Amino acid sequence: MSVLKIARMGHPVLGLVAEPVADPADPSVHRLVADMIETLDDIGGLGLAAPQVHVSRRLVIFHVPGEDTEKGPLTVLINPEIEPLGDDKEMGWEGCLSVPGLRGDVPRYTRIRYRGVTLDGSTIDREAEGHHARVVQHECDHLDGVLYPQRMTDLSRLVFDSEMRRFLIADEERERAAVESVTEDAAE
Ligand code: NI
Repeated sequence: MSVLKIARMGHPVLGLVAEPVADPADPSVHRLVADMIETLDDIGGLGLAAPQVHVSRRLVIFHVPGEDTEKGPLTVLINPEIEPLGDDKEMGWEGCLSVPGLRGDVPRYTRIRYRGVTLDGSTIDREAEGHHARVVQHECDHLDGVLYPQRMTDLSRLVFDSEMRRFLIADEERERAAVESVTEDAAE
């Protein structure tokens, strides 16, 4: 196994529509996944798509986030398909190993259904919401040559990691003000 080099924004491989994986049971696919898992463990991200390691195939790995947004169990998803459940979208902060040092506030579908196969050929068919749905949408976008800044609707919210804190504080204050105004309305 080996830690693979990550393609950065601007590398052509990140802009391609990736090819389906013909045979998930192929030993080369298993080797690729083992290397991707080692790479993700080494860098410490939530997910990784094959094009990010210069392999233009429809394969992603990601941790299913727990309720406390800590890393949950790892899913290997091959030839995935995503179907939004409803039109609702929500904003949320994302980072990407291919866009190092930056964070962006990105709209994503709140609820999705996603399907694909895993390494042993068995089918994955899940519904996801919130952070889980966000991670899957982010990773699968890589398979269509899309990076999260391309999904953003307000580029003033594309910021350096080191400046994130002030945005989170501002968001929290806005939320608190909204809750307080709801409480006041209820009290009237
Ligand atoms: Ni990414």
